[in-house]
Amino acid sequence: MPTMTLLAPARADAARALAAGTAVIGLQWGDEGKGKIVHLLAERHDAVARFNGGANAGHSVVVNGERFALHLIPSGILHKGVPAIVGNGVVVDPEQVLKEIATLSARGIDCSGLVISDRAHVVMPWHKAEDEAREKWLLQAGSPGTGTGGLRPIGTTKRGIGPCYADKVQRATAIRMGDLLRPETLLPRLQAICPLKAALLGALTGPGAEPPAEALDPHAIAALCARWAAGLHGHIRDTSALLLDLIDSGKRILFEGANATLLDVDHGTYPFVTSSACAASGIPGGAGVPMSSIGTVLGVCKAYSSRVGGGPMPTELSGELADKVRTRGREFGTTTGRPRRVGWLDLVGVRYAARLNGATGLCVMLLDVLAGLDEIKVCIAYDGPGGRTERFPPDGAALEQVRPIYQTMRGFGGGSGGGGGADLTTARRLGELPPGARAYLELIERFVGVPIRFVSVGPDRAQTIEIE
Ligand code: IMP
Repeated sequence: MPTMTLLAPARADAARALAAGTAVIGLQWGDEGKGKIVHLLAERHDAVARFNGGANAGHSVVVNGERFALHLIPSGILHKGVPAIVGNGVVVDPEQVLKEIATLSARGIDCSGLVISDRAHVVMPWHKAEDEAREKWLLQAGSPGTGTGGLRPIGTTKRGIGPCYADKVQRATAIRMGDLLRPETLLPRLQAICPLKAALLGALTGPGAEPPAEALDPHAIAALCARWAAGLHGHIRDTSALLLDLIDSGKRILFEGANATLLDVDHGTYPFVTSSACAASGIPGGAGVPMSSIGTVLGVCKAYSSRVGGGPMPTELSGELADKVRTRGREFGTTTGRPRRVGWLDLVGVRYAARLNGATGLCVMLLDVLAGLDEIKVCIAYDGPGGRTERFPPDGAALEQVRPIYQTMRGFGGGSGGGGGADLTTARRLGELPPGARAYLELIERFVGVPIRFVSVGPDRAQTIEIE
């Protein structure tokens, strides 16, 4: 008997070591093109799991010329037979999930592999109302002239992300996906929660602007929850147990990061961040898996920078050049449609993020967007109050005080500039890229100190260079 109890865990350990999965993590402020990498790698894994964020994320994936925009459902769903798991660390807007299921199903995608953690928190209508009201309040009552040390709106996606995570940490008034399946205990809880939320929202919005009474009526909310439960009950289960079983049986998991490292609530440009743990360190907690289940960490960055919402961005561009990059890179939010701020590549930030995540490989996305520019700048250090530094200050106020120090390179591809007229979008091997583009990639690899594994030269899955 004793040998049996000893042998079983030993076998599980061996399987786990072999199965160590892959994390795909954004190294900038989001929208790096993680969805495309996840889509490429999903077929080499046995399941895809999300561990953070909510419907604030937006992954757009192009498959056979068709564009799919996903916010909550992991893009692994586009691969038949690969379970798409939404872990406990995600905040779930059930209305959005139902909408995505309906849209995907209408386009012939089978969503039966979608599994949502019973411990994931539910974004309730009052979370969205509070998100909106807080941003408005910050705009009116804040002190915009005082920099990030003062109060000003975060520029959130208004998807209720911050208020939902705040409720999770406050505990008593939070609702989890599993609660939707227990209507008998949900209604009394809603009867206690709704008056509290009404009082809080009323105080935030001020007299005359309070939410209408029916928006916080416990019976109306219970009916909404019942509709959500009816649509999603078959998808809700203990995803940590599912993932642990998969890992113990030698399966490989692809962990799909949402948002990105510089938006991480602890390690990003606080307070201009989102409310979840977006770096690889968020995986064990947000998916309910051991750290040993992550073997490869792919850090994804664009060949330039982009940011949506408020907060410092040292390399931000403006004017005609910004418009050109924004248009060519289709830099308009997948979630909100807002035009994204764009800038030169900030290698100081990317290296910081790569180190923090323990990145074992880099994916450089949207390289084609830079083709045809006469010259390209790359930020390789900052000039700050303490002089020149190559350290990234992961604090909004401190980052606001630095100025970028650039290395300037000749442009490449696309007709004008140093590398000749090669069209980058048709390159499928490094050798097919113009020399200027290769020099740009070499600079990134050298500065960050991590090998490049993928280069993306267009939105389609096929427009990718994989480096063995
Ligand atoms: P929230 O996550 O909606 O609270 O927004 C907080 C900040 O993070 C805002 O500046 C958003 O624009 C930004 N943000 C959140 N998720 C993403 C994303 O997936 N891509 C880009 N920016 C994001």
